[in-house]
Amino acid sequence: MMSAMERDLDRLCQQLDDTDALATLLGFTDTDDIEALRARAEALTLRTIGNRVHYRGLIEISNICSQDCCYCGIRRSNAHVARYTLTQPEILDAAQWCAAQGYGSVVLQGGENTSAAAVEFIADTVTRIKALTRNPRQPEGLGITLSLGVQTSDVYRRWFAAGAHRYLLRVETTDPQLFARIHPPEQTLDERIEALQALRDVGYQVGTGVMIGLPGQTLVQLARDVLFFKTFEIDMIGMGPYQPHADTPMADEPTLSAAERLQRALNMIAVTRLVLPTANIASTTALQALSPEGRELGFSYGANITMPNLTPEAARQHYLLYDEKPLYNEDTEPFGDILKRRLAKLGREVGLHEWGDSRRFTDRHRT
Ligand code: 5AD
Repeated sequence: MMSAMERDLDRLCQQLDDTDALATLLGFTDTDDIEALRARAEALTLRTIGNRVHYRGLIEISNICSQDCCYCGIRRSNAHVARYTLTQPEILDAAQWCAAQGYGSVVLQGGENTSAAAVEFIADTVTRIKALTRNPRQPEGLGITLSLGVQTSDVYRRWFAAGAHRYLLRVETTDPQLFARIHPPEQTLDERIEALQALRDVGYQVGTGVMIGLPGQTLVQLARDVLFFKTFEIDMIGMGPYQPHADTPMADEPTLSAAERLQRALNMIAVTRLVLPTANIASTTALQALSPEGRELGFSYGANITMPNLTPEAARQHYLLYDEKPLYNEDTEPFGDILKRRLAKLGREVGLHEWGDSRRFTDRHRT
């Protein structure tokens, strides 16, 4: 027989299009409530996605950024950052390492740089990664995701034609006031949403996400974020707890405790899974910043993607978006084995030599 608690959860889960119901789920703090929510999201993931977790090798190609986001450690006006751009051979090496390990995809992530030279560099690098990573087990080469900020439609098209097929652009929050509070006036929420639309029009699988536990952010705002993912037909979600960075204007703004931010981020993964049963959801680095088991927790709450950091070590220490960002060496074979063992404990396995595209995208495009 169902307990009263299970009946309450059941009732809330019948109202997944209701902001208040979602906000209640997101705000769970009682251990039993949280466990019931987690178990439901995990079971749904296994039913809709299966037990495979896919890797995207993350290459942080440059920390040069023309934007000045108030939360971000590599914002333009942070003069303490030593700026770098990886060379093309460094990027190609990391991508080839990825392919050799059987990781089906790479993510090229970097600060926003709209110069013609930077745009060409990316197009050329994408073309070369594709050419270098075709092999009998993956005839189409590595899947390539880009995460390079707001660009023009022409640029998105150029990169798509070169072979990239997914793009991540976090909206950060869908609340207009909160967005305005954490960004300089020249950046707007509308511009981000238009960029997401432009990416979809070009044909990308589109990923977005938000930061969780921003100063002043409410549960209702987060609930609306999840509903935005749904109404905007988002294919991939990457979100994680907000972590202050000492050299940013938001450094001293009060936030929830680290433990509260971690739990809220996990609840957010679970609720997003319930609302978008077939989306790809990443267990992100920021979760690991708050707990050594953060990544595994993310999977057990419904995530099915992870992005091992393959940025060469010398550069990695300069890509500090927030304080206490983990700098583990994930570009080693033992790392892959360790993660595989940890996943096995959760009843999950690694999907090697395959792209692991979002089922939400492929279902939508099935004729
Ligand atoms: N805390 C958490 N996430 C952050 N990001 C940037 N700064 C922070 C921070 N202080 C995230 C943003 C951005 C992504 C690349 O990193 O969501 O989109």
